[in-house]
Formats: sequence, C-alpha cells, structure tokens
Amino acid sequence: MFEFTVAYRQGLARVASFSTPRGAVTTPMFMPVGTQGTVKGISPQELLDIQSQMILGNTYHLMLRPGEKLVEAHGGLPGFTAYPGPFLTDSGGFQVMSLGHLRKITEEGVVFKSHLDGSMVALTPERSIQVQEALGADVIMAFDECPPFPAEREYIRSSLERTVRWLERCLNVKSKPEQALFAIVQGGIHEDLRELSLELTRPFETPGFAIGGLAVGESKAEMFPAVAFTAQRLPEDKPRYLMGVGHPDDLVAAIGLGVDMFDCVYPTRTGRFGYALTDDGRLNMNSSAPRTQLEPIDSECDCYACRHYTRAYLAHLLRAEEMLAPRMLSLHNLRYLHRLVERARAAIEAGTYYEWAAQWGQRFFKGQV
Ligand code: GUN
Ligand code: ZN
Repeated sequence: MFEFTVAYRQGLARVASFSTPRGAVTTPMFMPVGTQGTVKGISPQELLDIQSQMILGNTYHLMLRPGEKLVEAHGGLPGFTAYPGPFLTDSGGFQVMSLGHLRKITEEGVVFKSHLDGSMVALTPERSIQVQEALGADVIMAFDECPPFPAEREYIRSSLERTVRWLERCLNVKSKPEQALFAIVQGGIHEDLRELSLELTRPFETPGFAIGGLAVGESKAEMFPAVAFTAQRLPEDKPRYLMGVGHPDDLVAAIGLGVDMFDCVYPTRTGRFGYALTDDGRLNMNSSAPRTQLEPIDSECDCYACRHYTRAYLAHLLRAEEMLAPRMLSLHNLRYLHRLVERARAAIEAGTYYEWAAQWGQRFFKGQV
C-alpha cells in the first residue's frame, strides 16, 4: 500500500502511480477541493465522469461543522459524500490561519475563534490526527504552521522547527495503517530555511512529502525558485505535493520541476465567477463576445458542457443567474485541469514535455491579453 512507482521520467518531470486503499492514482494529478464534503456544485458521478482521481477535504471545516463524529458515523468521507474514490484531507493549520480568528499559537497547538459561531476551539497535532482518522481519507496531512507572507526569517525558522516537532507528534498518535501521512516542508521563500526544513523532515520517511508555505502572497518569481529547490531535494521515490497550487501555468511549470500532486479552489471558484479555462487563456463568459458564439467553450474538451452547450447558451445562463452556469463552468474548468495533466503525462511519456510546455505556454499567454 502507498507504493509510488515511477513509470516514465523526463528531466525532473515524472509519470507515476500511487496506490491507496480506494484505488491507485496516476500522477501528475490535480485534486478538486471539496472543503465542506462537496466539490461545490459537482456531483460524485460528475467527478468520476471527468476523471477526477482524488478529492481534497478539510479538517478545519468538517470538525467545526458537522463535526467529525457525524462523518465517521457515515463510514468517513466516502460514505458521507458518496464519492467512492480516494480522498486526501488537509490538517487544519493552514485554514485556521486563513479563516479562523487566530488567538494563540504555542508549542501545544493553536487556539482560534471559530468563523462559524465565535466559539474558542483548540487544534493540536493530536486533535488533527484524531479528526483526520474519523474523516477516513486515504492520505492525511501533518499538522503544520504556514507562516503568512511576508514573515520575519527568525519566525519562519522557529515555526518550521515547531512544525517538525508537530510532525513527530502526529506520527506518534497516528493509529490507522490504512492511511498515509504526508509531511509538509516549510521555509517560505528562503533557500537556507527550505534546506533546514528538508533536513529535519526527510528522516521521518513518510510515504509522501508536501511543499507548503507557498502561494500565500509572494510573486511567482519568488515562488518557483523555492518549488525548484525543494522538489529536487525531496526523495525520488515518494510523491511530491505542492499545496494550494493552482493555475494552469503553475501546474505546467511545477510538473517540469518534478511536482506530482496539486490542489486548488481556482477552477471551481473562477468558474463560479463566470470564467472558463482554455488553451487560449481564461475566457470571460460575462463579456459580450460569448453571447453570440455558437461554438463550445473548448472544442477539444470532452466535458458535458462542451459536448452539449454553446458559449452563447452558457453566457445566457450566467446573465440570467441560473445555477446551471456556475455548475457547468466549474465542471469544465476541472476537466480542463485534468486534461492538462493528462497531456502533461503523455508528453513526459513521449519525452517531449519541455517543448510541449513551452508551446502550451505561448498559446495560453497570448490568449490572456
Ligand atoms: N495549503 C496550502 N498551503 C498549505 C500549507 O503550507 N500547509 C497546509 N497544511 N495546507 C496548505
Ligand atoms: Zn469542457
């Protein structure tokens, strides 16, 4: 279980598979975000239809509402949500920072005020694992601290050292061998701090490693060197997960640096706002042009929206504020990212990844202007 087998390599990029109790996944892959136990607006059957492989759930949200006990009473996230495939849950620390009204971070853990009812809640490494075991995902994440950007170097250092101590506590209380726990490397955009985090984290030999602490407000020119530096120093024989990324161009760049897994709310969120991802950039379906266009969003896309609907129809739904519009745009955008990683896998297999990526980028950015 949790065996990571590399099938093809080209440069730093690789195609691999990772076995989980609910089936194997093929990487590079993109994970749709199902924060509240649902990928917003998309049914489990639709996720299967667009070939989603693994769905992300959140400790923070589900422990506050409806509470992990209720999810556990359904047999965990697969029973609760009726999505039969693999799940990954994030550990909660990151969401406390971005959503909760953080009160105190100590060696013990974090205390925050719930964004739902204002009550004081504590989250510790032990509690995060307890919740993640109840949620029953196939991959669970270590409880970490993701410092804000920018943060003082000294703060990033002491926080990453504490994150390592929290990792050890997570591993000490973890009781379910059918769940893989991934460690998270921190260190902001500083090479020496990334190196320190790597040195302290690698010895735990977890079945996978995440690159955390990025896409939190730094520029892409600051983020990518940190991705490159970290990915290259992670074990060759374990999956590498870049958390909270991202945009189509970020996926293409990071795959070229040896990243295997991604998650982001971007495809569903931008879909709800009326944007459609295409090889020619992001199409604004709220603009006037699509209102009379009789072609699909993307003639090469095999999603339900592209097989059945014109841009004009979808633009009409959007203007009429019909709920099918955000649903179909979310579905298309997820399928776009799944197809993007499929094409990336095919190019790595063919040994043409970097040429393919350059061509894809040229067209994508030409379409953006
Ligand atoms: N999601 C995006 N970035 C992070 C991170 O640094 N840590 C965790 N736990 N989740 C994230
Ligand atoms: Zn489509």
